[in-house]
Amino acid sequence: MDDIGHPQMIQDIRRIVLTREVAQGGMCVVYEAKLLGCEGFAKRVAVKMLRSRWARDERFMRQFIGEAKLVCDLVHENIAQIYQLGRLPGGDYYIVMEFVDGLSLRDFMTHHFSRGRRIPPPLAVHIASRIARGLAFAHAFKDRQGRPLQIVHRDVCPNNILITTEGLSKLIDFGVAKALSQTVMDDRWLTGKVRYMSPEQAARRTVDFRSDIYSLGAVLFEMLSGTTVRPPEANPQTDDFAAMHPPWHRLPRDTDSELMVLMERALAADPARRHQDANQMAWALEYQIYKDGYGPTIQTVEAYLREHFPDLYRRGPPPPAGRVVRRPAASADEQAETVAEEMPGPVAR
Ligand SMILES: Nc1ncnc2c1ncn2[C@@H]1O[C@H](COP(=O)(O)OP(=O)(O)O)[C@@H](O)[C@H]1O
Ligand SMILES: [Mg+2]
Repeated sequence: MDDIGHPQMIQDIRRIVLTREVAQGGMCVVYEAKLLGCEGFAKRVAVKMLRSRWARDERFMRQFIGEAKLVCDLVHENIAQIYQLGRLPGGDYYIVMEFVDGLSLRDFMTHHFSRGRRIPPPLAVHIASRIARGLAFAHAFKDRQGRPLQIVHRDVCPNNILITTEGLSKLIDFGVAKALSQTVMDDRWLTGKVRYMSPEQAARRTVDFRSDIYSLGAVLFEMLSGTTVRPPEANPQTDDFAAMHPPWHRLPRDTDSELMVLMERALAADPARRHQDANQMAWALEYQIYKDGYGPTIQTVEAYLREHFPDLYRRGPPPPAGRVVRRPAASADEQAETVAEEMPGPVAR
């Protein structure tokens, strides 16, 4: 007890009800869930778990735990926030995080390109600028001792960017992110998506935040052109991978010349020729959309989503409660850690 009679530790009995499977990523399943408190308190959250195929693999498990611990203090409007790392009695870990209500940039792009439509360039640049701000924040983030962690995301791609119904763009999935001190690519596996990967990452050289700048440039290029900077079958093991030029001719003819210069810079094979930090890139992107006066804001994005994705704004009845992930009464030595207990019952799909 402290001197005003409050305990120094709170034994938090969390109950998390998984209500719906939202998506299956490469390695993870993500659920919409409710975090229950007392007096009917219920907060909408997302719960991410490793798919059973990967859950027993030490390497992926470490990566998953690493994601939670590395980014739990990153609080920024353009990064989905992580609240908790927990473990089921069977040993599987899960991450509780902010639920991002909206759609992925991948779905946003597919919606346009499958109908032969363009994404309005100012919106594309606005989305990229927001992600650049989120990256700049992560790159510059310091630990509690004030030491810069120099986090590199390493997997910036359209599946890892979500757009909320309020028009905010958020970066997710720091699963392969690392602090700079850990970035020597001695891994057996190459992690990240080849189509968005910087040449130095593909060559398994040490990467720094300029690698994320390249990947964001690749995402912007695809939003504007409907084509990826390199084909999915490009082989990162070959020498011509780094020399491969983006298909510039696929950009619309009316692409602003300054925007072209910006993309050429972000996509330079040599990191020294790119923007030297994500804030610099964010500034250049913002200049693009605001130089002629009032440019797009999150309200513009929201209005656009309301018009083109009306289903996102139609709320159905609340989904039935499915499997309950509940924290049991903790023993003294478990008090600092949330160990959850799995209750029987199917997950509503
Ligand atoms: N916080 C969240 N809120 C809502 N949907 C999410 C959230 N996090 C992830 N998702 C959805 O789940 C998918 C996979 O999540 P992700 O973290 O990228 O896992 P993976 O490591 O398997 O790629 C995402 O592309 C997105 O559609
Ligand atoms: Mg992902």
